[in-house]
Amino acid sequence: MISNKAKKQIDAWVAKYPTGNQGSAVMEALKIVQAENDNYLNADAIQAVADYLDIPGIAAAEVATFYENYNHKPVGKHTIRICHNISCMLNGADDLISYLEEKLNVKTGEVTKNGLFNVKKVECLGACVGAPMFQIGDQYYENLTEKKIDKILADLKAGAE
Ligand code: FES
Repeated sequence: MISNKAKKQIDAWVAKYPTGNQGSAVMEALKIVQAENDNYLNADAIQAVADYLDIPGIAAAEVATFYENYNHKPVGKHTIRICHNISCMLNGADDLISYLEEKLNVKTGEVTKNGLFNVKKVECLGACVGAPMFQIGDQYYENLTEKKIDKILADLKAGAE
């Protein structure tokens, strides 16, 4: 279930912690396995992470179900995590959420028909100075406008990572 490539990535995180505290790498391990599992974690994937880290399954499941950056059903290739907290809201996030929904023909939480995108409203991502903003993968996109969003989506549709 966990590829050798993913195991190497997880091992690098485990090495950052004192011996015997490999469970501290659980968040990154879940993220790595999620990325290899069509961007979501099912029960088997969560258990595989727990087994690999030699921690109880419930410990991995607690983390996987507590944080919103883990998905538990297919969500498409790119999750657009758009902030709608105070700074972003005051700088037009609601209008941009409506724009995204219209442009992609989805409501937040839905996956586009082509399986490329889903839009998720999230709380503050700590980039208030660049409001309004969203996150796709590990990348933050700040000071968003409709024009910027058009370019970002076009690049991703064209295969940009
Ligand atoms: S309020 Fe949007 S990043 Fe902080």
